[in-house]
Amino acid sequence: MGPGTLSELLKDIPVFRDENLLIGGGTMDDAGVYRIREDLALVQTLDFFPPMVDDPYTFGQIAAANSLSDVYAMGAVPLTAMNIAAFPVEAMDREILRAIFAGGADKLLEARAVLLGGHTVEDPEPKYGLSVTGVVHPEAVLANRGARPGDRLLLTKPLGSGIVCTAIKAGMADPATEAAAIETMCALNREAMEAARGLRVHACTDVTGFGLLGHACEMLPDAGVGFVLQHDRIPLLPGSRELAGMGLVPGGAHRNRCHVESRVRMEDTVPREVQDVLMDPQTSGGLLLSVAAEDAAVYRERMEEKGQPVWEIGEVAAQEQARVRIR
Ligand code: CO
Ligand code: CO
Repeated sequence: MGPGTLSELLKDIPVFRDENLLIGGGTMDDAGVYRIREDLALVQTLDFFPPMVDDPYTFGQIAAANSLSDVYAMGAVPLTAMNIAAFPVEAMDREILRAIFAGGADKLLEARAVLLGGHTVEDPEPKYGLSVTGVVHPEAVLANRGARPGDRLLLTKPLGSGIVCTAIKAGMADPATEAAAIETMCALNREAMEAARGLRVHACTDVTGFGLLGHACEMLPDAGVGFVLQHDRIPLLPGSRELAGMGLVPGGAHRNRCHVESRVRMEDTVPREVQDVLMDPQTSGGLLLSVAAEDAAVYRERMEEKGQPVWEIGEVAAQEQARVRIR
């Protein structure tokens, strides 16, 4: 479902709220935030999906990194998690199941988050993911709205994982291309979150199913602020551009293009296959942060010290109509 469709569907259903609800389902944020003490809020999220790679252990790692990411994208530290799974339990080799859970557990170990349990149902199509609970100071929440003119836009993982996964399924990805995409999808966004501490990060999200441009559009307010991206500064996974040129673009990229069309101005100079990568739905993508200009330099230094990748892909500009421009 595209951005906005589900919230439209749910908007008339009455739900209980109290004054401690800081961020709920209505704002397209990465996770919900609920204050339990003046200086402490819970951050809760749930995500699960079918395998995008053949190796079950790798799939478990990717699913866990992806689920944890929505907690990091709020500036929070994950504390606990629960598995959620659907498998053809009777028909499937138990070792495969075990490998998926082991991949997830290893990522929780790396994140220092405690597994409390989980639930598995019988289903012909395997699916796996996690519900994750984290904590954050209510004033340190990184919401997805709030970008200010002059901010720099930073991205912490290269794009194109959806395209490479499509190529893997078609048997068209060479081993190096596949390995680079898997390494990216397995990587936690923990250090990308930690590097933001104390800096003026005005907005943050993780780039997942709606692609870079879909998530960038969600960060925009209704008016007053726009994004200007430079296409040749946006990092692409090795091989993704070539594979897009061969037509190995997932259906989700075309849906994303339709959803963002009215709010995106793509200059003719942006090659068609690069446009496809910018729309490509990402699995376990990086953080997209809008950071005050002076602090953006500090963020980049911190990430460099950690040996973590980061790219400055554009900036925030005062604009009457909120648009994303790519030149
Ligand atoms: Co997210
Ligand atoms: Co999510």
